[in-house]
Amino acid sequence: MAACKFVEEYPVDKTGLLLIGTIGVGKTHLAVGIIKELILSKGIACLFYDYRELLKQIQNSYNDTVKTTELDVLRPVFETEVLALDELGAVKPTDWVWDTVSLILNTRYNDNRTTIITTNYPNLAERQRLGNVSSRSSEAAKYAAERETLGDRIGDRMRSRLHEMCRIVTMEGTDFRQQVKSASFR
Ligand SMILES: Nc1ncnc2c1ncn2[C@@H]1O[C@H](COP(=O)(O)OP(=O)(O)OP(=O)(O)O)[C@@H](O)[C@H]1O
Ligand SMILES: [Mg+2]
Repeated sequence: MAACKFVEEYPVDKTGLLLIGTIGVGKTHLAVGIIKELILSKGIACLFYDYRELLKQIQNSYNDTVKTTELDVLRPVFETEVLALDELGAVKPTDWVWDTVSLILNTRYNDNRTTIITTNYPNLAERQRLGNVSSRSSEAAKYAAERETLGDRIGDRMRSRLHEMCRIVTMEGTDFRQQVKSASFR
């Protein structure tokens, strides 16, 4: 419903979407569906990027033997009207990763461009989960403490920025791949 509403209301409402959910609930499927519909029914220029692939292409551009520059890779990401960025946070955070994701999201935010984001990481601040583990069983507490948050992966400043850029949609359910697409049923 949120996806349909987003497509209907774009571009009057340019707020993006942040699709959050566990593995296989259909985040990428929805993000792709949204941009396909925007392209086909509204003729809007959209770009889909896997976050890991994008960072790899930027890193690759630093290689002297490669002709593309960092800006060649980033320009379409900055300039496309709607960007779908899949699997935000999936790359192990380093200072470079944080700087790069900040540059991308800040540039799009400052230029008032729409971004649709998917992530597996829970929408919590850095290390927030460590604070309230005492009331749970030790097993659950250990899991909660170990599970990284979106804040851990992209930094709290960027997570906060996402709240301004996007409507948050939490997707719950079972892994579609195991339930419906499991090869053992074929
Ligand atoms: N509403 C749907 N109708 C039909 N197929 C769907 C639907 N939602 C998801 N699927 C299928 O289920 C599988 C898992 O969906 P998808 O890849 O979008 O999940 P995801 O949440 O992005 O998972 P991950 O966290 O691993 O990236 C895909 O094969 C996708 O095509
Ligand atoms: Mg996905």
